[in-house]
Amino acid sequence: MPLATLRTFEQRIERQLRLLELKKNIIERNIGRQIRQFERKRGIRLDDEVRFIRSWIERPLTIGAVTPSGKMLARAMARHVDPNSDGPVVELGPGTGPVTEALVEAGVDPSRLVLVEFNPEFCRLLQKRYPEATLVQGDAYSLRRLLETLLIQPAAAVVSGLPLVTKPIRMRLRLIRDAFDLMLPGAPFVQFTYSVASPLPRRLGGFTAEASERIWMNIPPARVWVYRKSEV
Ligand SMILES: C[S@@+](CC[C@H](N)C(=O)[O-])C[C@H]1O[C@@H](n2cnc3c(N)ncnc32)[C@H](O)[C@@H]1O
Repeated sequence: MPLATLRTFEQRIERQLRLLELKKNIIERNIGRQIRQFERKRGIRLDDEVRFIRSWIERPLTIGAVTPSGKMLARAMARHVDPNSDGPVVELGPGTGPVTEALVEAGVDPSRLVLVEFNPEFCRLLQKRYPEATLVQGDAYSLRRLLETLLIQPAAAVVSGLPLVTKPIRMRLRLIRDAFDLMLPGAPFVQFTYSVASPLPRRLGGFTAEASERIWMNIPPARVWVYRKSEV
């Protein structure tokens, strides 16, 4: 086939691709506008749900839930953090920030928050909503490396929204042991789960575990576990 014909063909395809991209941008902007109008009318933040679902479609095992936690669950987690305690409050996997919001509502000063989140889009959102908090974009399972030098004081609590059950047990145990090393003695490691059993096997851990009632007003219903390092 002559080279000129091939070039014309290529140019035609490129033009169509550019047109497709343009149409996609227009459709995305329209959807964005409609979501914002819907939210304004009903006083809700639907775009968090949309962000969440999109991230879940891209990486279901990392996100671990289809929607952000509801207010009841977020409050049930925040209740275990004493707002008058000393030291940073670390949140693992804050996502779009429902638990962060509950912590702040419960009286935790946002400047005490250290938010460890993997997803760059959630990080940008959290940075905007909680500019006083310390944001760490990284893998929470490398907690020691991420926080060892960053925390100038032991943490008063670690609150986790990580989908722990998608990880092997030895990784979960390493995470909680690393967390205890960064925390004040007796400080709580607060974790929610949709599972029936404790996401951290108690018999292996060297920690105490307490579970809340199942919170039925969450989708899906969830339970809050509080772990504390056993005294030796
Ligand atoms: C089940 S969602 C919970 C989000 C939020 N805490 C809530 O209650 O709606 C799990 C979150 O953990 C984050 N995540 C998963 N694996 C992670 C990792 N290894 N390090 C940091 N964040 C992680 C996900 O990006 C997601 O934001």
